[in-house]
Amino acid sequence: MTRSTWRTRIGFILAAVGSAVGIGNIWRFPWLTAENGGAAFLTLYLVLVVGVGVPGLIGEFVIGRRSNRNPVGAFDELAGRWYRPLGAIALIACLVILSFYSVVGGWILRYTFASTTGAYFAAPQQYFAAIDYGLGAVGFHVLFLAATVAIVYLGVERGIELSTTVMVPGIVVLFGGLAVWVSTLPGAGGGYDFYLSLDVSYLRENFFSVLPAAAGQALFTLSVGAGTMLTYSSYLGEDRSLAADGTLIAVLNTAIGVLAGLVIFPLLFSLGVSPGQGGPGALFVSLAGAFAELPYSRLVGVVFFGVVLLAALSSAISILEVLVAYLVDEHDLSRGWATLGTGGIFLVTGTIAALSPSAFGLLADTLSNVVLTAGLIGFLLFDGWVLGRLAREEFGRGAGPIAQIFEAPWYYAIAVVLPVFLAFTLVTSVAGIVGIDTSTGSAMALALIGITAVVLTFRRHGIPVERSA
Ligand code: PHE
Repeated sequence: MTRSTWRTRIGFILAAVGSAVGIGNIWRFPWLTAENGGAAFLTLYLVLVVGVGVPGLIGEFVIGRRSNRNPVGAFDELAGRWYRPLGAIALIACLVILSFYSVVGGWILRYTFASTTGAYFAAPQQYFAAIDYGLGAVGFHVLFLAATVAIVYLGVERGIELSTTVMVPGIVVLFGGLAVWVSTLPGAGGGYDFYLSLDVSYLRENFFSVLPAAAGQALFTLSVGAGTMLTYSSYLGEDRSLAADGTLIAVLNTAIGVLAGLVIFPLLFSLGVSPGQGGPGALFVSLAGAFAELPYSRLVGVVFFGVVLLAALSSAISILEVLVAYLVDEHDLSRGWATLGTGGIFLVTGTIAALSPSAFGLLADTLSNVVLTAGLIGFLLFDGWVLGRLAREEFGRGAGPIAQIFEAPWYYAIAVVLPVFLAFTLVTSVAGIVGIDTSTGSAMALALIGITAVVLTFRRHGIPVERSA
């Protein structure tokens, strides 16, 4: 079977940016920033995007382009059946993420409609509280899911390229304009303070809760750890610099998240809403309050939420596509049945999230962080210890002179430093979930033992390198 490849050189970048830019930047990032101390979270998050997100993204690209397969098939192809479970973690991550993503997509869809009448203008907080969970939320989740399924069913290529070319410039212009406008509002200053001036003592005291959240968000926003980027890069034919592409995607994506924060925090403060109270509704409450004040408020609302909806859709399809690619490639299902079947699963799981705030919170926050971190640890250990020099070779294929300088540092980072670091955040966040107090020392020790055990197992079952050469 010949596999399709991106039609244009820019197609891959657009699709990857389409996957990365989504409600992770616009909704999840401000929400978690508000919950984790503002600037403390922002600082750690930026460090982790550069130090973990980008090398991790390149690590996924390496496996995808090398194998030209879906996340499960990729490991099989490169190293044999024994490694398939590494891809299964990615599939679980996709299940977790789309289950709540579709609910948030539904909220956005609802706000797009509600903007036409200005339904939320008068009492933004009460409006959100009335629609966030319940039967209405289920209905809009189903609509959002149906749109996602339809696009994936019809084939992603055209939809993605189109939505991304509208979405990215649209978001930048809208948020840029809003950022300038909100800076003139009374009370906005408190928002900049909260968002931009780092309180080191807060960070020190809350390090163990802020760290896994910031690490998880760095992966979430770049779509790393769920096999999405692996799948998209598996359609790459030509030699191009994975490092340069990864960096470009990360810069664009991060800029959009930071910009969203520059709109939302000043707004929350000028409305007198403390960010900690915002919860998952921070985006909706703050923007709704702002639009009511603007001229052409309904039009602004429709355009704004419409653009955010495109961003959400282009990410949602990238998640569904992973599962569909897996079922089509590995289980010989037709594209139609694979899409409908996975859609049916999310119909159920999303409904649970739309009815239960606690299920939603668990999926959207901690569980997402955990599965993405676990997924990425698997990918990176595979790159570093199973592919080994082949991973370096793949990194070098198409790399320009600057990227080449980073080949060795990248390799040692993904083989040793990052797996240990990610295992450390994983241990602390799992300990947090089950309510055990970890010290740095014990978390570090557990992380090291875990990674060493996995590496030793990999080495023992090490692949005959010729198979994939
Ligand atoms: N990066 C997407 C966003 O920010 C979410 C996503 C996560 C997509 C993981 C694919 C895989 O909205």
